[in-house]
Amino acid sequence: MASTSAYSYLHKSPQDVLNDIDFQLTLEPALLTKLTKAFLEEINVGLGRYGEDMAMVPSFVTGVPDGSETGTFLALDLGGTNLRVCEVVLNGDKTFRLRQQKYKVSDQLKTGEATVLFDYLADSVDAFLTTHPPESPLSPDAEVPDVLPLGLTFSFPVEQTALGSGTILTWTKGFSAKNAIGNDVVKLLQDAFDRKHMHVKCVALVNDTVGALLSRAYTSGGCILGAIFGTGTNGAYLEEVAKIPKLANNPAAAKGGYMVVNTEWGAFNNKRTQLPFTPFDSVLDRTSINPRFQAFEKFISGMYLGEITRHVLLSLIDAAPRPMLFGGKATKVVNEQWGLDTSVMSEVEEAWETRVVEEKEKVIKEVDPNGTEPRSFPGEIGENPNLWDGDDHDILPRWDILSTPEGLAQLSLKVKGKLERVRKVLVSRLEYADGDVSLRDAAIVRWACHLVARRAALLSGVAVAAILLQTGRAGFVQDVHSDSSLNTPNDVPKVNGANGIHVTDSVTNGTSKNAAKEEFEEKIGVGVDGSLIQFYPHFERTMRESLRSIVGADVERRVEIGLAKDGSGVGAALCALQALKQEP
Ligand code: BGC
Repeated sequence: MASTSAYSYLHKSPQDVLNDIDFQLTLEPALLTKLTKAFLEEINVGLGRYGEDMAMVPSFVTGVPDGSETGTFLALDLGGTNLRVCEVVLNGDKTFRLRQQKYKVSDQLKTGEATVLFDYLADSVDAFLTTHPPESPLSPDAEVPDVLPLGLTFSFPVEQTALGSGTILTWTKGFSAKNAIGNDVVKLLQDAFDRKHMHVKCVALVNDTVGALLSRAYTSGGCILGAIFGTGTNGAYLEEVAKIPKLANNPAAAKGGYMVVNTEWGAFNNKRTQLPFTPFDSVLDRTSINPRFQAFEKFISGMYLGEITRHVLLSLIDAAPRPMLFGGKATKVVNEQWGLDTSVMSEVEEAWETRVVEEKEKVIKEVDPNGTEPRSFPGEIGENPNLWDGDDHDILPRWDILSTPEGLAQLSLKVKGKLERVRKVLVSRLEYADGDVSLRDAAIVRWACHLVARRAALLSGVAVAAILLQTGRAGFVQDVHSDSSLNTPNDVPKVNGANGIHVTDSVTNGTSKNAAKEEFEEKIGVGVDGSLIQFYPHFERTMRESLRSIVGADVERRVEIGLAKDGSGVGAALCALQALKQEP
């Protein structure tokens, strides 16, 4: 297995090595703005032509729900960690009920023959229907009443040709099933249902981001962007049909209005001209099953963050002339590709978190069981600013302090307690012997996790900012200062007319200042899902920091980020409903 080149510090101090890594993984605000500009360019290239890296897939979903929709539907969701089958009941009052069953998808299924994978999907739906017979009658297919309609959430790049069909473009997230790319995913699934003589019809195809957008709109009444920050990352937003030139000859173009576009932003800058690649990113990419694809996703999503961090750690374990981490020892977890799960990073960061007030006594007991040290917390803010305290502004480990007993003795009990908590997580999750992990190792690993995750959250902010800019809801913060008109939202699509179809408020210059202000101050709904945004400490906070630096605090404040709960299931149900309504 190729590994990142280890650090040689013959001509450098260990501290220089840490500084160097810190520098490589830190993003400056100016770079975030530059990346956002490049992102906007790729958005527009993808809207103009088929076959571009950022696929900008028209979803053929032309209205967003307003919460009044009703019906009972089956949904099948493939693309996250598990396969899920659900029955979704839309109550018509912004609420829904959902019963679901998760099924494991083995690596063998992910990488074997596509027909075997799709047969497994059909078997799972069959098993679900046996164990969960429909509670309320499923909304019948108008054409064939005894056939159950199903919405498929398929969270991979697909060139959608209609609401109920689309061609698989590539696999992502560790999938590589053979003989699938280039085929219609709905047909692959329907053929599997038919082979088993099941009375189920796949009527709608939806990406999980589109599902997140629709379900958030259904439950909250307004949403312009659905985004996933989980195993993978991606976003779908409401775009003006007039701004999608590649729809040229499609009947949808003539109808005008708005359409949800699945950006497939995970592929942003696959050409690798802008993103801040480090050797750790390059080795990850080279050894992945899809090198040179999903460049942006590999910086951001849960599937990859642990692996990037593992490469950072390995470079320090193997540093020459002397190891800088774990005394040069590596466990199976650390040696194996994908061995370090992103959830370990999350645990490490949580272990560091300050819960000092509640934990003061516990920390004192852990660090000082005999009660011989003074029961105060020197080094807490305001006490001695020269001491290393590892907090956000001072996270880079100080090799001199952490390497000698005298240095360690200078640390406050609070900091020692935090390091000790991190150390314990490393012993258990990375499977080290207790004596192999020092407090310095704990400080280094926690710093590495923080750097990699912070970079991911800042880049996530780039993607969200680009959508705000693309839809006219924001201007670049530096442009805004030089030209305030750039931040005036002319022709901003307003989500949700009474019937769930969005309407456009055209704010004409000078005529309606108050209306403009009101519109301008309206909340901007963003529906999100995924393990990082839900569980990784401070992911959203850091993403907002990025937004502020790109589009300014006024816009960031209006962005209302809410969980698109069960977005994949509810989104698929809503699409199935739209598909049935459209049936001739
Ligand atoms: C896929 C997207 C999906 C995202 C989040 C990416 O790998 O390409 O289609 O929306 O993961 O699940």
